[in-house]
Amino acid sequence: MEQVTSSVTEPKHVPVMLERCIALLAPAISRPDAVVIDATLGLAGHSIAMLEQFPQLRLIGIDRDESALAISRERLMNYAERITLVHAVYDEISDVLADLGIPAVDGVLFDLGVSSMQLDVAERGFSYNQDAHLDMRMDNSDVLTASEILNSYSHGELARIISNFGEEKFASRVASAIVKARETAPIETTVQLVELIKGAIPAAARRTGGNPAKRTFQALRIEVNSELSVLERAVPQSLNALKPGGRVVVMSYHSLEDKIVKTAFAKVSTSTTPIDLPITPVKPDFELLVRGNEKATDEEVASNPRARSVRLRAIAKAVAA
Ligand SMILES: C[S@@+](CC[C@H](N)C(=O)[O-])C[C@H]1O[C@@H](n2cnc3c(N)ncnc32)[C@H](O)[C@@H]1O
Repeated sequence: MEQVTSSVTEPKHVPVMLERCIALLAPAISRPDAVVIDATLGLAGHSIAMLEQFPQLRLIGIDRDESALAISRERLMNYAERITLVHAVYDEISDVLADLGIPAVDGVLFDLGVSSMQLDVAERGFSYNQDAHLDMRMDNSDVLTASEILNSYSHGELARIISNFGEEKFASRVASAIVKARETAPIETTVQLVELIKGAIPAAARRTGGNPAKRTFQALRIEVNSELSVLERAVPQSLNALKPGGRVVVMSYHSLEDKIVKTAFAKVSTSTTPIDLPITPVKPDFELLVRGNEKATDEEVASNPRARSVRLRAIAKAVAA
């Protein structure tokens, strides 16, 4: 489980790989008149650190969750003249910049997924540890909820998302249990779903790998919020938004997210000159800053369990691009 506090008035989220993110962005965002986008503002952990460390920096903070924006607005009070907070989905980066009249930025940071605050507020329905309506929308103005998916998707569709997005070995059995249960009554609550999942997974498998509901809950959250298709559109937009020398850092917590980032970064950082031509290859416009992906240190994982699954990738736009 993620680190949470018991108090809803003091929501907490420990920023992941904070120093590493700042070190990777620093050459770009320490420049005069630099602008950075925090595309996943959350509780502003990374944003506060960037504003604190770079006194000239202007920050655009994006979040699709209005409650995260409200909390962060208060937290960022001391930096009010240097920030613009926007309620948007991060695949709207191009529109956000056009609306603000900002042609290009120096850095973009993505810290994907949900925040500990979202997991902590029971009624949001993200947590398998607290009883609530199966909602899971990051933006309450969206229409599709987890309950809607559970009660309307076919067996095949449910099995596909639970297998692909949740990496659940017993996806088909879980889907069968859902379809059978909803013949009697709609599936509305987290506790109802947790019981169904427990019943569907063989006893031997239930004894290992943590709470058996974790994978199905993750799959539903990804489907409710279209997280992967949104990310697929967002990464190229963030690259297009960069000034020469600008940098993008992405922290993923799911192998499919990391694959999307890896593919988008590889596309712009690989030379297109055929290797068998006797000419100097044209240098690509972008350069990878991290070989493969980077994980959090054991020390960080020990103090912040959320860091366990993080995979960080970073890229820079060439200075002459
Ligand atoms: C892991 S938290 C970010 C935490 C933040 N870095 C901090 O230190 O406080 C992710 C945040 O991104 C937001 N988010 C997730 N997907 C989003 C999307 N597609 N567009 C905009 N915001 C998104 C979530 O609502 C959540 O507040």
